[in-house]
Amino acid sequence: MTIQNKHILIGITGGIAAYKICTLIRDFKKAGADVRVIATPNSLNFITKLTLQNLSQNEVFVEEFDIKNWKPEHISLADWADIMLIAPATANTISKIAYGIADNLLTSVACAFSKKIIIAPAMNCNMWNNEAVQSNLKILQKRGIEYLSPEIGFLACGYTGKGRLCSLKKIYQAVDEALNYCSKMKGKKVVITSGGTIEEIDPVRYISNYSSGKMGLALAKSAYDMGAEVVLITTKDFCVPFKTIKVKSAIEMQESVNDEFDNADYVIMAAAVADYRVKEHSEQKIKKTDNDTITLELVKNPDILAELCERKSSLQIKSCCCERGKKPIIVGFCAESENLLENAKAKIAKKGCDYLVANDISRKDIGFNSEENEVAILSQNGEIIKLEKAPKNIIARKILECINTK
Ligand code: PMT
Repeated sequence: MTIQNKHILIGITGGIAAYKICTLIRDFKKAGADVRVIATPNSLNFITKLTLQNLSQNEVFVEEFDIKNWKPEHISLADWADIMLIAPATANTISKIAYGIADNLLTSVACAFSKKIIIAPAMNCNMWNNEAVQSNLKILQKRGIEYLSPEIGFLACGYTGKGRLCSLKKIYQAVDEALNYCSKMKGKKVVITSGGTIEEIDPVRYISNYSSGKMGLALAKSAYDMGAEVVLITTKDFCVPFKTIKVKSAIEMQESVNDEFDNADYVIMAAAVADYRVKEHSEQKIKKTDNDTITLELVKNPDILAELCERKSSLQIKSCCCERGKKPIIVGFCAESENLLENAKAKIAKKGCDYLVANDISRKDIGFNSEENEVAILSQNGEIIKLEKAPKNIIARKILECINTK
């Protein structure tokens, strides 16, 4: 059922296993999908364009500059597809995609593709074991591209070893699951904050923190992959296919969060918001004086999260009178350098959010400005789910799965 009416884009590269993809195209068609095929020029040494055209009942795309509509093909195909499957994927194509090389239509589409990509490699076993190929696969995996390991068996080149395209059943199931995943948050609006707020002192200096915005970005990307309408309110510059609102200070962030709150289903506060700002921001650069010390008076910033939770509880009261039905799930983050769980428990009670994701920011390998994180998700009912150290995109996905099922 997941596959019905879905747009599946299949990229075929130049390997002997290319002929197997014909069966897969038929299976997807039988399940009611609309299938389009991009065949690299090398793949056409193994199968014909006519076969692919007949099976997919669609035009087959090969050349990059064979443009038929106003949008270049690599953009219109990327926009059209719900998912991209590259099977078989040669060592050459895997490595090019890992390095962002876009020298044919298939690699250009992959480069422009912001949704789910699954690749099914197939090659000689020595090529598979090559360190460069393995490290390129890791690069892809880190960026959220899933690969289906080849199987061990007799290979067309005469060797026996690992390199044979995995079973078509496995590929079909992976596409089915990914499409299912793509619609897990369909119809939901998710508002996410990211980055450290910037509290200006004067035109030259400011107070901020080490947040890179990566955790919030990973959450936003995962929610988008799950089909949600995403609004990312951030202090950083990101090029993403969903709405972003660039803010600077805690006050600006609060204004934007409040504007987006009304029809949100989830609000996730991953930003590191400054608790204080300078009382009087100087319009001119503060001059150095002969004094050895200088005093900056700080005032408290609003607690965006706590105020949202209060706003939600007032909505809940109103909703009893049928004035409003939508009550967003509110998720806070908790950055601690000591007694993580103890402090997190106190924080969730104080702020009143539905979930609190606690991370230890005293560690260099997780938390601030790192590629990975390790968190504990606390919920209002006292439940605690611990997530082991993993890349932030994996952590993000697990957090969303946790809050989306309840
Ligand atoms: O951006 P990265 O480099 O990837 O790093 C990720 C992260 C470490 C910043 C992130 O995982 C994280 O922990 N974010 C929350 C940081 C923080 O401000 O924690 P806190 O314990 O001080 O605040 C608790 C919660 O209240 C947070 O959801 C925060 O957004 C919110 N808050 C805090 C202060 C304030 N004035 N208003 C708020 O809404």
